[in-house]
Order: sequence, then structure tokens, then C-alpha cells
Amino acid sequence: MAMHSNQNYSLKSNNSFNLKASCSRIYFPSSLAELQQLPDLSAETFYILGDGSNTLFVESQAPIIIQPKFNGINILEQDDHFVVTVGAAENWHDLVCFCLEQGIYGLENLALIPGSVGAAPVQNIGAYGVEFADFCQEIQWYEFASKNLHSLTKQACRFAYRDSIFKQERYNKGLITQVIFNFPKAWQANLSYAGLDILAKESTAKQVMAQVIALRSSKLPDPKELPNAGSFFKNPLINEADFAQLRQQYPKIPHYPQKNGEIKLAAGWLIEQAGLKGFRHGDVGVHQQQALVLVNYGSDQGTDIISLAKYIQRKVVEKFSVFLTPEVRMITHKGESSFSSLSDINPIEDIHSSRGQIDD
Ligand code: EPU
Repeated sequence: MAMHSNQNYSLKSNNSFNLKASCSRIYFPSSLAELQQLPDLSAETFYILGDGSNTLFVESQAPIIIQPKFNGINILEQDDHFVVTVGAAENWHDLVCFCLEQGIYGLENLALIPGSVGAAPVQNIGAYGVEFADFCQEIQWYEFASKNLHSLTKQACRFAYRDSIFKQERYNKGLITQVIFNFPKAWQANLSYAGLDILAKESTAKQVMAQVIALRSSKLPDPKELPNAGSFFKNPLINEADFAQLRQQYPKIPHYPQKNGEIKLAAGWLIEQAGLKGFRHGDVGVHQQQALVLVNYGSDQGTDIISLAKYIQRKVVEKFSVFLTPEVRMITHKGESSFSSLSDINPIEDIHSSRGQIDD
């Protein structure tokens, strides 16, 4: 297996925030045999990296990295559906385009999402009324301890909003090698989401995809032009009582009732109302067109983005009493970190006030 081992394997082109980071070792397994040759990493810190479009390297030193390189797409046509098996390293948007070219419909609402196919189940990617889980049949998953492949059914993956078993019980216990989709031949355009409802009911999958691409391009910055990792925070879920209070004060607050009774709020709206849309501090900022996206204008340091994110979190709590939690994965040399445990990184305001004190 191609493996690089040196103190300075650069990950700059492997993270869409374009931050400076390097790791001491990186593995690129592309077959079961190569997975079985991986050393036992259970006592070390490591991180499984896809294309790096949802990863923030907080420090310049990253842990050991495993980047799966399983490729290939296989289509099996049945009477009323297609079973499509895809290697984890395939590019998500290329898969969406390929399926549509083959006359296999369903993923069109998920066009243009950056990242690899193997990363899609981990956080159950979703956009414009559709989520990954809607078309997932099963996941091929390699378990480090048993050195075996397992087939996990969709139910076993416990998909939820930006969540799955791969972020919970099975976190770092193995890695996804292949994703198996099931696309029913009976297809209907999903035009429920705002922005797609302008399309005619008879629209083709390609027309839906074109509209999704137009919507995304108008709001979400292309990471190649303006480095970012899509939505930085998750849309928060709150209970009905808290929501009733908020709504009294803010009658226009966008809200999405969930099946379990909770209410999902739009984090982008909360950030905009807190006055932070387009806010810039040094080389990082809040995107002009979508306040949920944090952008990097040229910083090398992940801590700059964390300081901004903490400032946003504070401002939103002050105004709405709602806590935003990051959707992006934050990685230090010690592995993955939660927002609250990055306690040595201060929000922007604190940086100002402490500098002010020193200068005075
Ligand atoms: N809004 C504002 N101001 C903003 C941004 C949004 O007022 O700056 C309002 C919008 O007007 C709308 C609501 O917030 O009423 C929702 O906005 P939008 O439709 O743009 O979607 P979102 O909730 O901000 C989510 C996903 C996106 C996905 C879009 C479209 C999360 C964390 N984000 O964003 O996913 O593309 O819906 O379906 O769930 C990602 O995860 O990286 C991502 C980009």
C-alpha cells in the first residue's frame, strides 16, 4: 500500500478550508488485503479523511491519517430498481452526474455537494429535501479489530440529521469501503424545498439538477475560489416550549417541525439576525450570501476560524438563547475535538479585549 511516512506530509490540498497542516504518517488502503496490513492504531490518535471538505485542521500538526482509496462503480439492474455499488473514494458530485447520465434518478437534489461517497453516510449529507439515507441500501464497513468486512443495513446505520452510527458507536472502529444504493425506477421529482417549487411538476431529473446547481452556486462559495467547508454549524433543534417563546419575540423565525416534536431552526437566519452576515475579522469571515458558511480569505491557521465560530456562538446565545454546535469536524494532533473542549482558543471579542489591555 502506498504509505507516506515523514514529519511533513502536507494536508493543505486535502482540506477545503485550505489550512496549513501536516501529518507524520498517512495510509491509502485500496483493497481488503491492504486494510488487513494496517498496523494496530487503537492506542494512537488517527483520523479517517475523505476529501477534506468537512474537516477543519485546528493545529498545523494533524494526527495519523487514513485516506481510503476504494474506487469503482457497479450497476445491477433489477425489475423495478437499480442497485448501485460505489467505492468510498469516488467523488460525490461525479456519482450524481454519472447516475443521471445512466437514467438512474434520485440523487439530483444532492448535486454539487463537495466530498467523497464514503463520507456521505458518516454525516448523512442532505440538501433540498433529500438526504443520503433516502437511497441507502447498505454500507460495506471494514472493522479494524476483527480485520473483516461487514455489511450494515440502512437501519443498522441509524441515520439521523447529520448523524449516523459512524460518528457514534462505530467511530474510529473501522472505515467505510463501499456504499450500496437502491434507486427505484418509479421516480418523482422532489420539489418540496424552497427554490425548487418554481419548477413544473413534470420536470426531468436533469432539470431539477440544473436548478439545484443554480441555487447552490448563488449562495454557497466554491471552495476552490473561497475556501470553506459548507455549513459550519448544524441547524439547532429546540423543544416546543422554547420555540413558543422565541416565536413570540420573532414571529418571522424560520422553523421546521420534526417528527419527534422538536423544532429545527435555521442557523443561517439566527446568525444573520445577530448582525453577522458578511462579517469579516482578519483573514476569516462569515459568507456574504449564506451566514451559515464560514470562509477563509487567506489564513493559515484553523484557530482563526475557531475564534470566529466561538464569537458567532456567543452572539447567537446572547440574542436567542440558542446554542449552535459545529457540523464541521475539528481535528487537533490529539484527534477529533469538540467545540467546548477547545477551551484555550478564545472568541474574537476576548482576543480584542486582552490585546487592548496589553496595549493600554
Ligand atoms: N437564511 C437566512 N440567512 C442566511 C442563511 C439562511 O435568513 O444567511 C434562512 C433562509 O432564508 C431560509 C433558512 O434560513 O429561510 C434556511 O436556509 P437555506 O435553505 O439556505 O438552508 P440552510 O438550513 O442554511 C441547509 C443545509 C445545507 C443545505 C441547505 C439546502 C445544514 C447544516 N445545512 O442549510 O447543507 O445545502 O440546507 O438544503 O443542514 C452543508 O451541510 O454543508 C450544507 C451546505
